[in-house]
Amino acid sequence: MAAKAPTKIADVEEQRQKDHLLELAHNHACSSHKLFDFLQEASLTNQQVAALLRNYDAHASVLRRLLLNAAGMMPEAAVTYVLENVRNEYGNGDFSENHQGQLRSLAWDCGVSPEEFFSCRIHPDIGAFIKAASTFYAPGNSCPQSLGRIKKAAITAGAITATELLAIKEFAYLQKAFSRRGLAHHIWFKHVEIEVEHSDESLDLALHFAKEADGLKCVEYGMLGVLDANVRLYDGLLAVAQNHQSVSQAV
Ligand SMILES: [Fe+2]
Repeated sequence: MAAKAPTKIADVEEQRQKDHLLELAHNHACSSHKLFDFLQEASLTNQQVAALLRNYDAHASVLRRLLLNAAGMMPEAAVTYVLENVRNEYGNGDFSENHQGQLRSLAWDCGVSPEEFFSCRIHPDIGAFIKAASTFYAPGNSCPQSLGRIKKAAITAGAITATELLAIKEFAYLQKAFSRRGLAHHIWFKHVEIEVEHSDESLDLALHFAKEADGLKCVEYGMLGVLDANVRLYDGLLAVAQNHQSVSQAV
């Protein structure tokens, strides 16, 4: 009986930390970005589909490589939290089912040609996101001294958690927009469920580090860095989609 009490206290503390990280993400400005209002109402033209998915693909491609790199940076006990996510991205052992291919097949199913897709320019805000997010996924030696005992893997864990928590919302709203193209059930939108699993795993990863001294501060640092970067990401995605909307309306 006596052995159960500390476990319960640990569980309560873990839940408190999890709620804190969820609040951090949900209360951040990126969580209420105008991109979500746009996707809620948008009837996407093919030009918008091409620009939006081309730019989404650009950022997701870099995040996939950063995630792969992150698995190698984790201490042994934390690797498993990342592996399932990476394995999903690369098709669970069957590369023909990789997620980049799914994204692009959504564009083709809309009637966008590969030529149209690849001719879309990558918005500077997407480039800014990639640059900023990379510094939190793969932290260098310039982390603030205020973090105390620097835990680079914990910063990476925070970065992954921010991405996964917001991805739930991204896919839910992208699905709404593509439902008006009759593609709500396209295989890429399995992400609506997959991202819930990935966000649970990333929260477990974050909590793994939050138990250590300075771990929570490092997790928060990584999370906030990517949440801030997400504002640039969403600025860029909204800009390319709106630009193409105004062009198509003007024609
Ligand atoms: Fe994915």
